[in-house]
Amino acid sequence: MKIAVIGKGGREQALVETLAASPSKPQLFSFPGSDAIFRTAAPLVADGLDSLMDAMMREGIDLCVAGEESYLVKGEGLANRCAQAGIPCWGPPKESAWLEASKEFAKKFLTRHGIPTGKALVVKDAREAREAIGGHYPTVLKFDGLAAGKGVAVCPDEKSAEAFLDEVFEQQRFGEGRLLVEEYLTGPEISIFAAVCDDKYLVLCPARDYKRLKDGDQGPNTGGMGAVASRSLTDDDTMRAIEQTIVAPTVAGLQADGLPYRGFLYFGLMLTPDGPKVIEYNCRFGDPECEAVMPLLRGDLAGFCMAGARGDFKPELISFSDGWSVCCILASAGYPASSHSGDLISGLENCAARVFHCGTRCSDGGWKTAGGRVLAVTATGDSLEQARETAHAEAAKIDFFGCQRRSDIAYRNV
Ligand code: AMP
Ligand code: GLY
Repeated sequence: MKIAVIGKGGREQALVETLAASPSKPQLFSFPGSDAIFRTAAPLVADGLDSLMDAMMREGIDLCVAGEESYLVKGEGLANRCAQAGIPCWGPPKESAWLEASKEFAKKFLTRHGIPTGKALVVKDAREAREAIGGHYPTVLKFDGLAAGKGVAVCPDEKSAEAFLDEVFEQQRFGEGRLLVEEYLTGPEISIFAAVCDDKYLVLCPARDYKRLKDGDQGPNTGGMGAVASRSLTDDDTMRAIEQTIVAPTVAGLQADGLPYRGFLYFGLMLTPDGPKVIEYNCRFGDPECEAVMPLLRGDLAGFCMAGARGDFKPELISFSDGWSVCCILASAGYPASSHSGDLISGLENCAARVFHCGTRCSDGGWKTAGGRVLAVTATGDSLEQARETAHAEAAKIDFFGCQRRSDIAYRNV
């Protein structure tokens, strides 16, 4: 079986390595991939969706696994193109991936199907936004489109709201688009992942990510500075409520709306005093949650995705081990506002934990930084204490110019 994994970050490396370790022993390929991924997967040489499809056909790819979201909504959509080419794809078609690409689409879907979420109004300019806010703070403003995780502002006061409205409507920092003014919710956040195959689903191991740059949940929002995953992360009652009020109605809603879905579906939730509510959907695995969850996966992920992409749901093929997994991100100088590339990474050879490369390059025999998030260091353990102590100790062995790392991952909010 030949599998192509689409994407280039730590998430994709975690997927590639877990797929490669499957008992069905698949042959792995990747696009655009990375030097780290290419140690396990062969490169697919392409420069866009058209040539990627050609490359997959040429290699005789049996299964395409979508790692990152952008390809799902680009052009005609990766999964749509795969369907035309007769290549099973683990990842939804464009019409369903709007759940992630448009906050307005997602909010309408949630409301239509009675799935708990914050109330929201859609506005087209700053005047309408001010009217919708109505002087109530904090408020949450969300740009209606893919904005690389930067399109959401939680505004404690008028000043911060005005600054974001200026970015969206005056500077058009994210391009043209509308804005959601959303009710401010409170409570711990949790990332829930389901593998969806038409009308069936399997809830995977839950995780929590740490979005702020600095310890104590301070500093700017990032793509994620670390994650903790365990089947014990929440109690059974909470998981049951999440499944009954959110996961099952979402899968039923997709069916009712005629939105085909085969792939990972990520529910960003807030556990509010009124029960779990949906903050966002993502049509892929989380990053860095994937780097924490994959090391706990047992069984045949390759066989599971291959069968699922063909509409044959086989939940018995995978399971998650007991215990805990903690992932610490090492980010480059300037992240998240900018990033610093070309800095030599030291200490990798001394690190006894699993290291996934988010943004690196291998040149002149050494690994160098090549992006904002650089490395994800993951350790598993029978207990939370064991996993987090190992993850932090092993991450501390690695260094590069301006390396940024949180020291409270899995110590806080667990
Ligand atoms: P998103 O990009 O939609 O995941 O939002 C980024 C972050 O903003 C979330 O992880 C939350 O911490 C915060 N956030 C989003 N929506 C809300 C809300 N309605 N109330 C409070 N915080 C929110
Ligand atoms: N960890 C957040 C995300 O993948 O969107």
